[in-house]
Amino acid sequence: MSVLRITDLRKRYGAVHALDGASLEARSGEVHALLGENGAGKSTLIKILSGAVRHDGGSIALDDRELRIRSPRDAVRAGIGTAFQELSLIPDLTVAQNLFFGREPLGRLRGVRRGRLEQEAAALLEQLGIERIAATALVRTLPIAQRQLVEIAKAAARRPRVLILDEATSALSPAEGTWLLELARRTAREGAIVIFISHRLAEIRDVADRMTVFRAGVDVGAGAIDQIDDDEAVRLMLGRRVERLYPPRREAVGEEVVLAARGLTLGTRLAGVDLDLRRGEILGVGGLQGQGQRELFNALAGATPARGRIELEGREIHPTSPRRALAEGIALVPEDRQREGLLLDLSIRDNIALPVIERISRAGFVDARAETRMVAEVAERLQITAGSWAREAGSLSGGNQQKVVLAKTLVSGARVLLLYDATRGVDVGTKSEIFTLLRELAGSGMATLFYSTDLQELTNVCDRVAVMADGRIGGILAGPQLTEENVLRLSVGGSLPPVAAEAVR
Ligand SMILES: Nc1ncnc2c1ncn2[C@@H]1O[C@H](COP(=O)(O)OP(=O)(O)OP(=O)(O)O)[C@@H](O)[C@H]1O
Ligand SMILES: [Mg+2]
Repeated sequence: MSVLRITDLRKRYGAVHALDGASLEARSGEVHALLGENGAGKSTLIKILSGAVRHDGGSIALDDRELRIRSPRDAVRAGIGTAFQELSLIPDLTVAQNLFFGREPLGRLRGVRRGRLEQEAAALLEQLGIERIAATALVRTLPIAQRQLVEIAKAAARRPRVLILDEATSALSPAEGTWLLELARRTAREGAIVIFISHRLAEIRDVADRMTVFRAGVDVGAGAIDQIDDDEAVRLMLGRRVERLYPPRREAVGEEVVLAARGLTLGTRLAGVDLDLRRGEILGVGGLQGQGQRELFNALAGATPARGRIELEGREIHPTSPRRALAEGIALVPEDRQREGLLLDLSIRDNIALPVIERISRAGFVDARAETRMVAEVAERLQITAGSWAREAGSLSGGNQQKVVLAKTLVSGARVLLLYDATRGVDVGTKSEIFTLLRELAGSGMATLFYSTDLQELTNVCDRVAVMADGRIGGILAGPQLTEENVLRLSVGGSLPPVAAEAVR
């Protein structure tokens, strides 16, 4: 049996102590969950273990042998395979080239023996049960979920002794998430150590044997999974309790339709979608991955023009670009926060204030001070600390970057919010704050379209949930019919139990 022993690890970025004496111990045969709020230091530990960054102090030992990890190559040699939170794939290479990157001589990657490489890649994908991803596809053309699957395949490819999954489920559909949990369990059963990072307590309970909790760069608790219940885990993570994750729904949602789509069509991806989003409502969008959800959001936000009719408050609009959609009052939280959501070189403050500044300069007379107050208030509620305002957005942890993207959208002055997986990678404490904020906004008339890969979130946050299948809306669930089970049923093209079917509007 092998043991991974991390002792008193330290890492500073300028004034930030990302790790401040963190320890963790994991054994072969176990899935070991690592928990902690956004910015707690989880990914920093992972980057050190995988040779992406160097630590300032502390030690890492595997089987009582101290590991000196100075480069990704050292980590691979030590048997550490990592699926990174922000993905390590090279967009302009194919899936096959990415899977074997670093293992193959460049000549081979570049084409000489490409056919062979692709065969091996296809075999690996099949063995992992994800052969639906083409080995020849360019990574840049894949949606995030598929890129995530390739990242996982790359980490698992060399049968590592330590498999690290840093928020690898956060972009996956429920079915793909289940697939990954099974992969993690199997890998552990076969004798590896699996380190599993996630903000979803339910899946941690489902997959992990033991857990370690980090807070502010230090381990604050560890133990067998059934020794630490959810309340205790949250208390350890945040240093306080969270009373309720989901705010109460409103009794009734207004009838007035704010945003309507009729016959939205985009190639074979959107096959004529009709949708009514009402004032004050949070309308969920569910379904298996790749059923047209992304295209629907992009079409409504002007990111990918589609055929069909879009009406805002009864007037036809033509959002031919995200900028024009925003000018109409429709704001999108995009899928890819790193590429579309943020200017990584700019400060947090500039990222959030940008849409506001544009509006001020356009409208001429806007109370600039009120705007600044609004930015500050939203940032504070999302727990983006003022002390970090001047920092580059690119230096934030994954979850904190996501929070900045959301904050930026919330202050944009929009009347319609299109939130595509807006809470991906956000910790439970901030999530409850976000849901409360969304409810308050709904209370003052905001119309929100809410896509999430998390079934619990969909069924608990939304007033209604539209389930997509094959580019269409297969059904809309509300009231007592809004259950995880029914969302799943409609996702696979099934029908609802007879009683339920009547009540569905
Ligand atoms: N390259 C960097 N430059 C400056 N600060 C950094 C850098 N990378 C990380 N940090 C900081 O180190 C701290 C820990 O970040 P880390 O990414 O480890 O958090 P995390 O626990 O993975 O959070 P999340 O749940 O959001 O992914 C954060 O305050 C982060 O802003
Ligand atoms: Mg992280």
